[in-house]
Amino acid sequence: MENLFRLVDQDQDFFQPKWTLVNGPIIVGAGPSGLAAAACLKEQGVPSVVLERADCIASLWQKRTYDRLKLHLPKQFCQLPKLPFPEDYPEYPTKRQFIEYLESYAKRFDINPKFNECVQSARYDETSGFWKVKTVVTTTGSNKTEFEYICRWLIVATGENAESVMPDIEGLSEFGGEVIHACDYKSGEKFKGKKVLVVGCGNSGMEVSLDLCNHNASPSMVVRSSVHVLPREILGKSTFELAVSMMKWLPLWLVDKLMLILAWLVLGNTEKYGLKRPSTGPLELKNTKGKTPVLDIGALEKIRSGDIHVVPGIKRFSRGQVELVNGEKLDIDSVVLATGYRSNVPSWLQEGEFFAKNGYPKAPFPHGWKGKAGLYAAGFTRRGLSGATSDAMRIAQDIGNAWKEENKQLKKRTIARHRRCISLSQF
Ligand SMILES: Cc1cc2nc3c(=O)[nH]c(=O)nc-3n(C[C@H](O)[C@H](O)[C@H](O)COP(=O)(O)OP(=O)(O)OC[C@H]3O[C@@H](n4cnc5c(N)ncnc54)[C@H](O)[C@@H]3O)c2cc1C
Ligand SMILES: NC(=O)c1ccc[n+]([C@@H]2O[C@H](COP(=O)([O-])OP(=O)(O)OC[C@H]3O[C@@H](n4cnc5c(N)ncnc54)[C@H](OP(=O)(O)O)[C@@H]3O)[C@@H](O)[C@H]2O)c1
Repeated sequence: MENLFRLVDQDQDFFQPKWTLVNGPIIVGAGPSGLAAAACLKEQGVPSVVLERADCIASLWQKRTYDRLKLHLPKQFCQLPKLPFPEDYPEYPTKRQFIEYLESYAKRFDINPKFNECVQSARYDETSGFWKVKTVVTTTGSNKTEFEYICRWLIVATGENAESVMPDIEGLSEFGGEVIHACDYKSGEKFKGKKVLVVGCGNSGMEVSLDLCNHNASPSMVVRSSVHVLPREILGKSTFELAVSMMKWLPLWLVDKLMLILAWLVLGNTEKYGLKRPSTGPLELKNTKGKTPVLDIGALEKIRSGDIHVVPGIKRFSRGQVELVNGEKLDIDSVVLATGYRSNVPSWLQEGEFFAKNGYPKAPFPHGWKGKAGLYAAGFTRRGLSGATSDAMRIAQDIGNAWKEENKQLKKRTIARHRRCISLSQF
C-alpha cells in the first residue's frame, strides 16, 4: 500500500475540506473492545483513529449502567490485553474501578478517541479499495457537521449493547406512570415505597429487582419464558472459572449437566419460585442463542422471601395497572424495562456479507473477527470482555502483518528509486 497520510486537520473552518485520509485503521467505538484494539495495534506499530459517538470512553459503563454494578466475572477474565488490573482491586471490581482501569488503559496506550462523532455510514469503495466512513460531529451546543474519513481498514467495535430494546407492549403509552429502560436506571432510591414492575429476568432484571428491594420498593419481576440461574460462586470458587476449567477436559453437554447439578445443590429447585429452566443447558444456550445465564448475587434470596414477586408475561397495560397473561391485574407505579440490548451495526454499515441482519458477524466464535476488504469486528463474540480481548489481539496481529509487509514494499521501492537517482547523477 502506498503510505497513507493525513491530508487535513480536523479543526474545520469554512474553507477546509471535510474529509481525511487516515493513516491506519479506523476503529468505530471507544468501549473496551475499541480501546483494546487500538492498544494492540499500537504495540504492532500501527496508528489508528478511534471514533466515538459519546463524549467519553466506555460510555456504556459511564452513562448507561446502574450504580451498584460490579463485574460479574472474576477480574482475570475481564482485563484487557497488555495491562492487568491493579493488584489491590477486589475479585469483582466495581463499575467505578472498572472505569478507572479503562481510563488508565487509554492513557497508558495514549489512545485519544475523537469524541462526539457518530458514524452514520460506512461503505467499501471497490474502485479505490478504501472504506468511506461518514460521521456527524456534534460541536459546541448542539451544532452538527458532517465529516468523511477514508481508510484501508475498518474495525467495528460498537458493541452488542449499542441500543436498548424497547418492547412494544399493548397499552404501555396509556400507563401514565414512569417507564424507563434499565440503561437509565441508576438506583432504587427514588422508587422507595413504590410498586415497580421490572420487565425481564436477565442479569439486569434480577439486579434491578434486588436493588429496588434494598431501597424499600416493591418489585414484581416479569418472567415470560425461562431462565438459567446459577450461583456466582460454588464453594468459594467462581462458577464461570469452574466451567472454563471443566471445558478443558469435558464436552460441553457434560459441563452443562454438571453445572446444573451444582446449581441445584447450591440454589435448590428454582422452578418452584417461577424461574423455569430452559431445556437447553446454560453454556449451550449461551453459545447458540447468546442468552446469558443469570449469575445470582442475592436476588434469589429475595425471591424466596417474597420480597421480589415473580410474575408471568404481560398481556397489556392500562392506566396505573398491568394485566398479566394469567389474568391477574396488578396496580403499579413505575415500570423498568430490563428487556436487553441490541447491536446497531445494520443501521450504519453498508455491507451484507460479513455481518448478519441482527448486527453480529455471521460466522460464530472464533471465526467472526475478520471479514473481507479490511473489515474487522471486535467485541461481538457473546463472550463479554474476554471475547473482546481475543478479537483485539487477532485483529492487531493481522493488520500489523499487512502493515509491516506494505512498509517493507514501500522501503524497497524507495531504495530502488534512490538507486536510480544515484546512478543517473553519476552521468
Ligand atoms: C449492565 C451491563 C453489565 C455488564 N457486565 C459485564 C461483565 O461483568 N463482564 C463482561 O465481560 N461483560 C459485561 N457486560 C457486557 C458488555 O457488553 C462488555 O462488558 C463491554 O462493555 C463490551 O465492550 P464493547 O467495547 O464491545 O462495547 P461497548 O462497551 O458497548 O462500547 C461500544 C462503544 O461504541 C460506541 N458507538 C456505538 N455506535 C456508534 C457509532 N455509530 N459511532 C460511534 N460510536 C458508536 C458506543 O457509544 C460505545 O461507547 C455488561 C453489559 C451490561 C449492559
Ligand atoms: N455485570 C453484571 O452483573 C451484569 C449486569 C447486568 C447485565 N449484564 C450483561 O448485560 C447483557 C444484557 O443483559 P440484560 O439482562 O440487560 O438483557 P438480556 O440478558 O437480554 O435479558 C432480557 C430479558 O428481557 C426479557 N424480555 C424481553 N422482552 C420482553 C417482553 N416484551 N416481555 C417480557 N420480557 C421480555 C427477556 O425474556 P426472554 O428470555 O423470554 O426473551 C429476558 O429475560 C448480558 O450479557 C448480561 O450478562 C451483566
